[in-house]
Amino acid sequence: MAPPGPLHVMAGVLRRPDGAVLVTERPPGKHLAGLWEFPGGKLEPDEIPFAGLVRELREELGIEVREAYPLLVLPWRYEAFQLLLDTWVVTAWDGTPGPLEGQGLQWHRPEALTPAQLAPADQAILRTLLAG
Ligand code: C5P
Repeated sequence: MAPPGPLHVMAGVLRRPDGAVLVTERPPGKHLAGLWEFPGGKLEPDEIPFAGLVRELREELGIEVREAYPLLVLPWRYEAFQLLLDTWVVTAWDGTPGPLEGQGLQWHRPEALTPAQLAPADQAILRTLLAG
């Protein structure tokens, strides 16, 4: 049987007008617990990527995404599985992001983020943000 394909995971870089971006802490008990990430999660079957991004950020942060553009699709291999981290920059939303799942939330300018505190795939996203 063919091995399962990569997990398609959506991630959103919420960017405020002052340039700060939102990172959230992965909760205890989950893969990479305690590391920080750009919020998001798995795309559902038959869901288009933008809809998955909107749903994940609604579920995790209680916001309604109004405008976002694709930044990069990053293939990544963790020990047990592979993922495609489909990353969008979110430039407009309704509501105030809140920790709906009890997760830590922090806003930082990308230059002020400490790469080692981010999930490994998210460190690659940060490099792209810094290069842009
Ligand atoms: O959040 P969730 O557990 O649904 O994410 C699925 C997988 O994608 C996890 O292994 C998580 O570590 C990874 N992920 C990531 N960076 C993100 C979001 C998710 O590496 N920004």
